[in-house]
Amino acid sequence: MTVSSAAPAPTHAAGATSPGESGIGKAEIGDFTPHMVTLRWTEDDGWTVPRLGPHENLSVSPATAALNYGQSIIEGLKAHRQPDGSFALFRPRDHARRFRSSARRLAMPELPDDLFVDALDRLVEANTDVVPDRPGHSLYLRPYMFASEANVVPRPAREYTVVVISFLIGSYFGDSSDGVSAWVCRDYARAFPGGTGSAKTPGNYAPTMPAQLAAGRAGCQQVVWLDAVERRWVEEMGSANLFFVRGSGDDVTVVTPPLNGNFLPGITRDSVIAVAAELGYRVREEPVALDEWREACVSGLITETFGCGTAAVVTAVGRVRDGDREWTVGDGATGPVTSAVKERLLAHHRGLIPDAHGWRHSTTTGARR
Ligand SMILES: Cc1ncc(COP(=O)(O)O)c(C=O)c1O
Repeated sequence: MTVSSAAPAPTHAAGATSPGESGIGKAEIGDFTPHMVTLRWTEDDGWTVPRLGPHENLSVSPATAALNYGQSIIEGLKAHRQPDGSFALFRPRDHARRFRSSARRLAMPELPDDLFVDALDRLVEANTDVVPDRPGHSLYLRPYMFASEANVVPRPAREYTVVVISFLIGSYFGDSSDGVSAWVCRDYARAFPGGTGSAKTPGNYAPTMPAQLAAGRAGCQQVVWLDAVERRWVEEMGSANLFFVRGSGDDVTVVTPPLNGNFLPGITRDSVIAVAAELGYRVREEPVALDEWREACVSGLITETFGCGTAAVVTAVGRVRDGDREWTVGDGATGPVTSAVKERLLAHHRGLIPDAHGWRHSTTTGARR
């Protein structure tokens, strides 16, 4: 890969307000940090070592294979400030494994886990001073790999580039206690058996964008995806996995659809399963039908629903719209189980409770400023 220093670098991630100044503790939510890491793989030489450089534009051939055939994968994870002022990445080795699994699905080379984590460490260390020490602020890291060979023949490329950029992130859906509104997509399917639903590849996201627009027109914030075959089972919501709370008080069962290859095996989903058990809830992985979701919300059997993901953390669903039908989950606000799961997960992120699962990976030793 060649990197051009002539063109201006982007400074701001989408969805945020305005770019802040770069510099110690000055970054605002949405600002890209001043550095990025790159490495490359070629058929002849294998992987290069990760290189830390300035966050700047890439220079690519107009024949870049990824732009023609979509051989491209992404990851998304966070580094959280710890009580001693240092940063800890959350479950980077699990993200490394998923990156390899996505690569396999798209016939791309598998980046060794140590190189993946080394690239993240370098980026976090370089950017530590940029992130203000404010509650709820963390560093979102976006590793991606694309076929960078100049080639318009539809075959696996012979050269790939990995880039890791990062930006400052706050609470994805804000801190309101209202649940988000979700719109059930009936017109499109996101994934299907034998497809790429469980890989984190851009080709899974672009086709969902008309549904996002339709959800917005229906007055909803999120899209709920059903299975592609029976159009009956609830699979995912936007960039989040779904959990359903049956019962209340001392009699709570937390249910999430089992992994079936059609939706992303969320690292947060896996963490929530463990966290819910820590909190003493029964946890079950079983399919949830859309009709059951609606009827059980109406009857009061399902008391809460929440989505979870690296960006979304844990976010309550307050209202669901399916064509002309609409229902409220609980009282439409964040319920006690959702709150408890979120709080405990955040405590794991921020190093406020012992790391019984080995989830936190320390990157820096910087003392609190
Ligand atoms: C489609 C989709 N589902 C679920 C998730 C949640 O995954 P994770 O918890 O690993 O962030 C994401 C976020 O990456 C996503 O993009």
